[in-house]
Amino acid sequence: MLNSLIYNRLYTWYEINHRILPWRETEDPYFIWLSEIILQQTRVAQGMEYYLRFIARWPKVEDLAAADEAEVLREWQGLGYYSRARNLHKASQMIVSSQKSQVESGEQSAYSFPKTFDEIRALPGIGDYTAGAIASFAYNLPYPAMDGNVYRVVARLLDIDEPFDTTAGKKRFHKEIELLLDRANPRLFNSAIMEFGALYCTPVLGDACETCPLNEICLGHLHNTAELLPVRKPRPKVRDRWFTYHIYVQVKKENEAYTLIQRRENPKDIWYHLYEFPYEEHADEPTTEMTNAQSPMTHIVHVLSHQKIHARFIVHRVQKMPEIPGTMLIRWDDLDDYALSRLTLRALDTMRSILPR
Ligand code: ADE
Repeated sequence: MLNSLIYNRLYTWYEINHRILPWRETEDPYFIWLSEIILQQTRVAQGMEYYLRFIARWPKVEDLAAADEAEVLREWQGLGYYSRARNLHKASQMIVSSQKSQVESGEQSAYSFPKTFDEIRALPGIGDYTAGAIASFAYNLPYPAMDGNVYRVVARLLDIDEPFDTTAGKKRFHKEIELLLDRANPRLFNSAIMEFGALYCTPVLGDACETCPLNEICLGHLHNTAELLPVRKPRPKVRDRWFTYHIYVQVKKENEAYTLIQRRENPKDIWYHLYEFPYEEHADEPTTEMTNAQSPMTHIVHVLSHQKIHARFIVHRVQKMPEIPGTMLIRWDDLDDYALSRLTLRALDTMRSILPR
């Protein structure tokens, strides 16, 4: 009965306050899957244009599967966490190859996205949250979808001060959301609790609790702990790395400029298969005498989830390109055709006044 009170209050709030978002206007599991992968580590405002571009360019799962990985990475450029794009592409190919013979023989009229939680969960790049989101939003199946917003709402409602990002903590929260889930309306329940966390029960509360529709039954509010919740486990230390990048610019006749780029080839390191200018990595902070004071240089600190990259970019205007193994010579104008790391894009932007074009 407490649950039905929560549903009533939550759904009334949702009716009035929810955002109109394109992936909420569809029940197409392929579109919902794309939106959820994009939104895994990206804000709605930024994710929107990528979502619209992906569905316009690859409107069906078989279209995405037929694309080259390089094209998908190029379309993903700027969103970061590129393994999401590689997994998206790989998953689309798995879906298509598992149905190819049925579709080609006419036994099945079209390719279809997997329809059960377990099949969805088995795709690369899909964890419990994303599988629950797709299963509930596309098929109205009774699975919870615990994203960061939902963890926060549940921690506060039940006053749980156990870290939510440990194995034990996840188990505890999962048990609680299973008890809370509205099995008659999983699509609505998951949408409403997620949106309530995103828009109302936010990390910084101000005086939101005073007018909150759930304040009479929220233990975090009643115990005055809401704003301190949820609790995370202590963060691992961020690793510092130092890179020196070399932007070689060779201008030939008729203003045609060339440069050298290379693809990152270590699957265990950041930015796998993205392109950058040739660089060296230093074991420690490089000293100033290692830089050539004649060349223009810029420093950029680029923060990732577990690494802090201290990058220097040096522009070398050359008559003749140096020979650097592993690099390729390209026209400067063709840089746009390669999926570049976000750090590289930042450097190009920062240094644009002294670079070609
Ligand atoms: N973040 C992750 N999934 C979302 C969704 N379906 N709507 C809004 N924000 C989200």
